[in-house]
Amino acid sequence: MGEKELNLITTVIILIIIIIITMSILIIIILLFHRKEKEKHKYEIEFLNIQNQKYLLNTRLEIQEQTFTQISREIHDHIGQRLTLARLYVNELAPKIDGAELDLLHESSSMIEEAIRDLKSLSRSLTANIIQTDGLIPALQLEINRVKKITQTAIELQIVHDEKIPFMHEEKELIIYRIIQEALQNIIRHAEASNVLICFIFKNNLLELTIQDNGKGFNQDDFKRNRSTQSSGLINLKKRAEMLNGQFNITSSLGKGTTLSFKFPYSTNQNSHADNQTNPA
Ligand SMILES: Nc1ncnc2c1ncn2[C@@H]1O[C@H](COP(=O)(O)OP(=O)(O)OP(=O)(O)O)[C@@H](O)[C@H]1O
Ligand SMILES: [Mg+2]
Repeated sequence: MGEKELNLITTVIILIIIIIITMSILIIIILLFHRKEKEKHKYEIEFLNIQNQKYLLNTRLEIQEQTFTQISREIHDHIGQRLTLARLYVNELAPKIDGAELDLLHESSSMIEEAIRDLKSLSRSLTANIIQTDGLIPALQLEINRVKKITQTAIELQIVHDEKIPFMHEEKELIIYRIIQEALQNIIRHAEASNVLICFIFKNNLLELTIQDNGKGFNQDDFKRNRSTQSSGLINLKKRAEMLNGQFNITSSLGKGTTLSFKFPYSTNQNSHADNQTNPA
């Protein structure tokens, strides 16, 4: 084989190697691009799913708020009116009787009066605009007073903050208010607690909220295993926390009480119901 042919073969081999390397690089680039596109597509689908879930949750919570408003109106317009009328009738009987019967009548009248007051405060606690008018902390204090009246439980509200209590956006405050209402509802229904501590710690744009009771507690594994489709309270708490990009954790064991802990990032909303909010600390 002559030198010329050898050179030709070397050139061909080099060319083939260059072609193979170029093609490999091209294939790797195409594969990488394809993988990136696939990942992008996956993230887009995940993003859409999350958006969709948030949308569904928003709709569900909106429906729940509408239901609360309807119940609140029903209590105010119908049940409240009827009780007011009943109290009037009872009071009209007063001049016609005396003695022990009159005492009973007065007692009935004040019981009806108390029921009207309780229903009014229940009706108010159900409306969303309690947050617009009062702000979260005063609305919570009203709620705590309402719950204290129907249970023997001591409920303490602790608020730790730097200078002033920060004001959050109203929708956020409403969600936190509903979270605490559900937690209190659970304590009334299940805990048999004598003490409850609700603690807010506002620090560096993070709100740490804990609701702690010293009641009978529950076994979370048993609850997960036997969860009835009827129980939605704790699940809703988790979803509500997610809506605020927050974290939620439950610590509970039999005989040792239950603690619900939340962490919510927040940005302050200086203009919101600022004039109404008092400093309870
Ligand atoms: N503070 C608590 N103390 C003791 N047990 C609790 C407490 N909170 C929740 N539980 C237990 O966890 C279960 C689930 O609570 P969850 O709020 O999800 O449902 P629920 O209160 O039974 O029904 P609802 O859907 O009306 O809220 C309760 O049935 C109860 O056994
Ligand atoms: Mg519940």
